[in-house]
Amino acid sequence: MKLLITGGAGFIGSNFIHYMLAEHPDIQIVNFDALTYAGNLENLGPVERNPHYTFVKGDITVEADVTAVFKAHVMDAVVHFAAESHVDRSLHLGPEAFIRTNILGTQRLLDAVRAHRVRRFVHVSTDEVYGSLESEGRFMETSPIQPNNPYAATKAGSDFMVRAAHRSHGLDAVITRCSNNFGPYQFPEKLIPLMIANALENKPLPVYGDGRQVRDWIYVRDHCRGIDCVLRQGKAGEVYNIGGMHDVPNLEVVRLILKLLDKPSSLIQHVTDRPGHDRRYAIDSTKIETELGWRRQFDFETALKVTVDWYLQNRAWWERIRSGEYQKYYAAMYGNR
Ligand code: NAD
Ligand code: TYD
Repeated sequence: MKLLITGGAGFIGSNFIHYMLAEHPDIQIVNFDALTYAGNLENLGPVERNPHYTFVKGDITVEADVTAVFKAHVMDAVVHFAAESHVDRSLHLGPEAFIRTNILGTQRLLDAVRAHRVRRFVHVSTDEVYGSLESEGRFMETSPIQPNNPYAATKAGSDFMVRAAHRSHGLDAVITRCSNNFGPYQFPEKLIPLMIANALENKPLPVYGDGRQVRDWIYVRDHCRGIDCVLRQGKAGEVYNIGGMHDVPNLEVVRLILKLLDKPSSLIQHVTDRPGHDRRYAIDSTKIETELGWRRQFDFETALKVTVDWYLQNRAWWERIRSGEYQKYYAAMYGNR
């Protein structure tokens, strides 16, 4: 099978490439990535010279880039990760880049997949398109789409374009909607790697509002296996939720990180809440479990320990990121909070 992976230099995309190359010796992967602030070829260092792997730099919003990669490589399927992915950036720096990449970029890929008769398109989406839950219930594939921030709204827009391509043109497209991921290579602007890195540097851990917002955490490898299942067995036109079945308040996650690192809870600093902050996410994964046989394999506490160890052992990876442009981002995002 020959796969085009978009956004493969980011967090989940790079984990997916490592996973697929290890699990499927017959596979050929082309990684198409614009290398934005979140894209990092260091994430793919271990497979750089693997004959089953090729990197192509390109932007999914630029028609010429997209056409060139589809002309150069005959693909069986596209797995689409490329996105602007951070809620706080969409709120504080504005939604334009999100609208371009997440909506326009997705549409360009759908057009190319049709034009080049690629068999299957897997769209990697998020539970955030469903909005926020009260204290009860879980998101089902049939839950209403009610995004509450610009990132989530643009992901919902991309989901609708994928649905439309399937319904209007018969495109073989499937959508996955996963909960919050964590694991190696996650950019340290997201909750878990940010808290690990700050704790290791004895810096304050900025918890938004009361810290009682609930997220359903999944180890990235379980998400990658879920995407692989959907790629191989998912039914065209369907949506599959993928969740960690571990929904806990942010404060509990932060306290656990401090415990694993043997750091004091006095590092926790409550800061001004995120506007429109979704209170609770929780996924019902019954459909992918019963129809495709997927199961979560990693329990949260074990996977968090593995993740903390990875950030301890790969200090140079995140220190390099945090020493550059990131400092301006951090000052803008947390300076006056
Ligand atoms: P990320 O921000 O770490 O990586 C995004 C990657 O996309 C980067 O390599 C970046 O260079 C690339 N990219 C961005 N704009 C591009 C463009 N215009 N053209 C080509 N490449 C571009 O994101 P992530 O956390 O790995 O998320 C990957 C996907 O999974 C996203 O679609 C996201 O919505 C979805 N998702 C993420 C989570 C999560 O918890 N991180 C949960 C569910 C779904
Ligand atoms: P994040 O990792 O940004 O993922 P998402 O917004 O997609 O769920 O945030 C996870 C949770 O952690 C979310 O409720 C916001 C909260 N959070 C903080 O409290 N402090 C922080 O510095 C960050 C980045 C997030």
